[in-house]
Amino acid sequence: MSTQGNNLDPWYTHYADRTAGLAASEVRALFAVASRPEVVSLAGGMPFVSALPQELIAGAFERTMRDYGPTALQYGSGQGMPALREHILEVMALEGIRGGVDDVVVTTGSQHALELVTKLFINPGDVVIAEAPSYVTALTVFKSFQAHVNHVVTDEHGLIPEALEEAIAALRAEGRTIKFLYTVPTFGNPSGVTMSWERRLRVLEICRANNILVLEDNPYGLLYFGAPAPHAMRSVEEDGVIYLGTFSKTLAPGFRLGWVLAPHAIREKLILANEAAVLSPSSFTQHVVSEYLDEADWKGQIDTFRGVYRERRDAMLLALDDYLPDLSWTHPDGGFYVWVTLPDNLDSKSMLPRAVKELVAYTPGTAFYADGNGRTNIRLSFCYPTPEFIREGIRRLSTVINGELELLTTFSQTAPLSVSLPDDTIISPPANLG
Ligand SMILES: Cc1ncc(COP(=O)(O)O)c(C=O)c1O
Repeated sequence: MSTQGNNLDPWYTHYADRTAGLAASEVRALFAVASRPEVVSLAGGMPFVSALPQELIAGAFERTMRDYGPTALQYGSGQGMPALREHILEVMALEGIRGGVDDVVVTTGSQHALELVTKLFINPGDVVIAEAPSYVTALTVFKSFQAHVNHVVTDEHGLIPEALEEAIAALRAEGRTIKFLYTVPTFGNPSGVTMSWERRLRVLEICRANNILVLEDNPYGLLYFGAPAPHAMRSVEEDGVIYLGTFSKTLAPGFRLGWVLAPHAIREKLILANEAAVLSPSSFTQHVVSEYLDEADWKGQIDTFRGVYRERRDAMLLALDDYLPDLSWTHPDGGFYVWVTLPDNLDSKSMLPRAVKELVAYTPGTAFYADGNGRTNIRLSFCYPTPEFIREGIRRLSTVINGELELLTTFSQTAPLSVSLPDDTIISPPANLG
């Protein structure tokens, strides 16, 4: 019997143990507050879908209904529509990936793919090695299958291979079962960092030598601002990599279409798991996206997105330079996020209510760690607000951070209270500071 939940819920004794990992994330709790129009939200990862050619998408809807109505409104196959899978191969080829139409499984967003892969591989207590920091909702999935998440440190070139080797050795010495390595190697969420080509090769080599699968999650790879990113890890290793892609960031998340490219045997199991979960991914949105990709200049449209996000990234980096010159942050070459490091004595989570009061929202770094780290980090998203709002958001954030720092300075300079106590008085801190 589980003890999850609380006694306001009459069914709280009924929940499965695995629901212990299902606590509302910082990001989720934030959305309600941060979506108020007066708040500049630098918190969520919402693509700027208003930049899409709405009339071309409307045309794809119309053609879907006109030409394919009865099939588009019907259940489909658990693997996804062949025509869409053909297009997915074209998309992946842009990042050096070769595969066959049969190797692709369409899912309800890559979030669903994360869930399916975890379901296939993780028994309670199995280890997922995850780069630190890691995408928050992947961590939620891993926890919900009772995985033990072991973080491995990263730097400005991504996952550090030596740290990975050490972690594997330590886990093996403890007798742990390691199932896969989770990484967002290109324009990572939340760090914005990209793993170098040399490291990609080395990480693949280490995982191959240790019989560990690589789960490569790549929503942002095509959203580069200068030169294209290094090719995907899957482009060099077919047997040991499960690759996740999505239309959410290069087209629109509302379609809820992602995919998995997996080695043959894993793919077969994924199709069965997909059928067990949803019978088939949405036939309707698969038709619409396939029609859109048939007719539209989709590569040109991704280029438009690159231009929009590049301008916003520039606005964010400039505003950080202007308003918070003493902090440090990552310099992403693509994607949606900047990862900021605060002074050591600040706490990004406890500072958040003050930030929201100043009408700016961010995601505290702790959301991206399974082990409580990230206290002095914040993730800032530049994907959604306009450059002007981004600048104003950073200005407000600087007011909050500088205010916190002033408060700390004031308190640290206050002379200690001089009181005379009897010699045998024991001074203990209040319980909430202990
Ligand atoms: C790294 C990463 N993986 C997966 C997802 C899920 O994307 P979707 O389910 O919309 O494809 C996201 C969304 O933000 C993400 O950033």
